[in-house]
Amino acid sequence: MTARRLIGGIAILCVVLAAVFPHALYGNEDGRAQTLIHKTCAGCHRFEGAAESRFKLSAPDLMWAGSKYQRAWVIDWLTGKEEPLYPKGYRWDITEGPTKHMTVSKEDAEAIADYFERHLIDPRVTVGAFNLSTFSAMEAEFGRKIYRDHACIGCHQIEEHSQIVGGPQSVSLVKAGRRYNADWLYRFGMNPQDFNPHSGEFLADASSLGLRYVIGYVAIQGVPDVRFAEPWKSEEFGRANVDRGMQVYKEYCMQCHGATGRGDGPAASGLDPKPAVHANMAFEKLPPDYVYNVIYYGGRSMGKSAAMPYWGLTIGQQGVADVMAYLNVTFKGLPEIAGTPSSGSCVQPRKTVAAPAEYAQRTNPLPATPETIQSGKSLFLKAAQPIACAFCHGDAGDGKGLMGMGLIPPPRNFTCGAMMNGISDGQLYWIIKNGSPGTGMPPFASLADEQVWQLVRYIRSLAK
Ligand code: HEC
Ligand code: HEC
Ligand code: HEC
Ligand code: HEC
Repeated sequence: MTARRLIGGIAILCVVLAAVFPHALYGNEDGRAQTLIHKTCAGCHRFEGAAESRFKLSAPDLMWAGSKYQRAWVIDWLTGKEEPLYPKGYRWDITEGPTKHMTVSKEDAEAIADYFERHLIDPRVTVGAFNLSTFSAMEAEFGRKIYRDHACIGCHQIEEHSQIVGGPQSVSLVKAGRRYNADWLYRFGMNPQDFNPHSGEFLADASSLGLRYVIGYVAIQGVPDVRFAEPWKSEEFGRANVDRGMQVYKEYCMQCHGATGRGDGPAASGLDPKPAVHANMAFEKLPPDYVYNVIYYGGRSMGKSAAMPYWGLTIGQQGVADVMAYLNVTFKGLPEIAGTPSSGSCVQPRKTVAAPAEYAQRTNPLPATPETIQSGKSLFLKAAQPIACAFCHGDAGDGKGLMGMGLIPPPRNFTCGAMMNGISDGQLYWIIKNGSPGTGMPPFASLADEQVWQLVRYIRSLAK
C-alpha cells in the first residue's frame, strides 16, 4: 500500500519536475547525444570555434548544425538513407571520390538531431528571415536563371529534367530543399565566407532580391509538389480599390499607354513595339497570373519588350492589385477603337526578322495527320506557356484575340492564305521558338521541337 503510494508520488513528482524543469528530462537524451558526439563525431567534425578553411578540416563544421539542417534530414543522413553529399569527396585534394558516412541507430540519430536543435543554434541566423510560403513560380524561374548565370551550376549539382547537371566539386544541391532550413541558406548566401572561408566558395553579385530568388530556388530542390505562392490571390487583391488604381494608372501607366489607354502616351512615339492599346484588351477575360507577372515583373519576365517596366518595386503588391482592378473595370476590349492598325486584316505589313538560312529552309518533319493538327490546336488554344497563342492570335487564328487587338504591330492573321503561303515552315518555327524582336510576339523557348512543329501544322491548317 505504502510502496504503491510512494511510486505514484514519485511519478507525479516527475511529471511536475519535467514541466517546471524540462532540462531535467532532456538531460538523459542530451547526455547520450553528447557522449556519442564527443566519442565519435568529434573525431572528424568540429562543434565549436570560428569558421575555417575546408583545407584545414577533415569534415564539414557542425557548430551551426541546429540552424542549418532540417531534423528529418539529419536522421536520414545518420541512418545511412542519403547519398554522399560531395561527389568527389569532401577533401577532394586528398581522396578522390565519395566517402561512405558512418551510421548510428535511429534512436541515436534522433537524440543527435534534438541535440543539434537545442545546442547548436547560430545567432547570426534570423528565424523567419526567409518565408518560403511567399515564394512564387516566377521567382523560382528567376532563381533558376541566376543559378546558371552566376556560376552556381559550375560547382554544385542539381537535377533538371530528371538529369543531374553541374560541376561536382562542392556539395550537391540536388535535394537541398529537404536538407537545409531556408533561414540558414539565406544567411549563408549573404556571405558564404562567414561559413566556409578559403575553400573555393563564391560570393555572387546578387541584389537582396536576386539572393531571395536563388536561395528560394535552392530551397525547393528535391521538394515534391512545391506549393508556390499565387500573389494575384493575395490579401492585397481582396482589398483592391479601383479609385486608387486609377490614380496609379495616371501616375505610372499613362506616360506610355495614354490617358484613355489608347497606347498614345508621350513616350509611345519612341517605342517598338508600341505600348499596348489597353482600350482594345478585354482584361477581365485574361489570365490574372499573366497580367500580374507582366505588370509586377515587367515585359521581359514574359518574353516581351523590356520597355514595359517592372512595377513591383515602385508601386508594391497593393499598387499592382489596385491598377489591375482599374484595368478590369475600365477596359472591356469593345468596341474596337478606330484608328489603330486593324488586327486581323489579311495581308499585314510585316517587319519580322528573317530566320537564319539553315532554319528558313527546313520543312515540317511531322506529317499533316489529324493527331498532329489536334496536338497543335490544343497548344494553340490552351496549353502553351506562359500564355496560349489564342489570347493574341484569336481562337480562329485570325489575329483578333482578347489581347491581340491591343498590340502594335498586330498579331499575324493565320487565316490569310495570301500572306501565310509566302512564309516558310522553318521561318514559322524560328519565330515561335525565338519570338519576333520589336513586336509583342514572345519566344516560346520552353516548347519542345515536336510541339513547335505541331503548332506549325495547325497554323497551316487555318490558311484559306
Ligand atoms: C570519419 C570521419 C567522420 C565521422 C566519424 C563522422 N563524420 Fe559526419 N561527415 C564526414 C564527412 C567527410 C562528411 C562530408 C560528407 C560527404 O562527403 O558526402 C560528413 C558529413 C556530415 C554531415 C553533413 C555536413 C554537411 O553540411 O555537408 C553531418 C550532419 C554529419 N556528418 C554528422 C555527423 C555526426 C552527427 C557524426 C557522429 C555520429 C559524424 N558525422 C561522424 C566525416 C565524418
Ligand atoms: C567556384 C565554385 C563555387 C561556385 C561558383 C558557387 N559555390 Fe557554393 N560553395 C562552394 C564551396 C567550395 C562551398 C563550401 C562547401 C565546400 O567546402 O564544398 C560552397 C557552399 C555552398 C553552400 C552551403 C553548402 C553546405 O552544406 O554548407 C550553398 C547553399 C551554396 N554554396 C550555394 C551556392 C549558390 C546558390 C551559388 C551561386 C550563386 C554558389 N554556391 C556558387 C563553391 C562554389
Ligand atoms: C502576347 C501576344 C502573342 C502571343 C501570346 C503569341 N503571339 Fe504570335 N505574334 C504576335 C504578334 C504581335 C505577331 C506579329 C509579329 C511580327 O509582325 O513580326 C506574332 C506573329 C507570329 C507569327 C508570324 C511569324 C512570321 O514570320 O510572320 C507566328 C508563326 C506566331 N506568331 C505564332 C505564335 C504561336 C504558335 C503562339 C503560341 C505558342 C503565339 N504566336 C503566341 C503576338 C503573340
Ligand atoms: C515606358 C513605357 C511604359 C510604361 C510606363 C508602362 N508600360 Fe505597359 N507596356 C509598354 C510596352 C512597350 C508594352 C508592349 C510590350 C510588348 O508587346 O512586348 C506594354 C504592354 C503592357 C501590357 C500588355 C502586355 C502584353 O503581354 O501584351 C500591359 C497589361 C501593361 N503594359 C500594363 C501596364 C501598366 C499597368 C502600367 C502602369 C503601372 C504600364 N503598363 C506602364 C510600355 C509601358
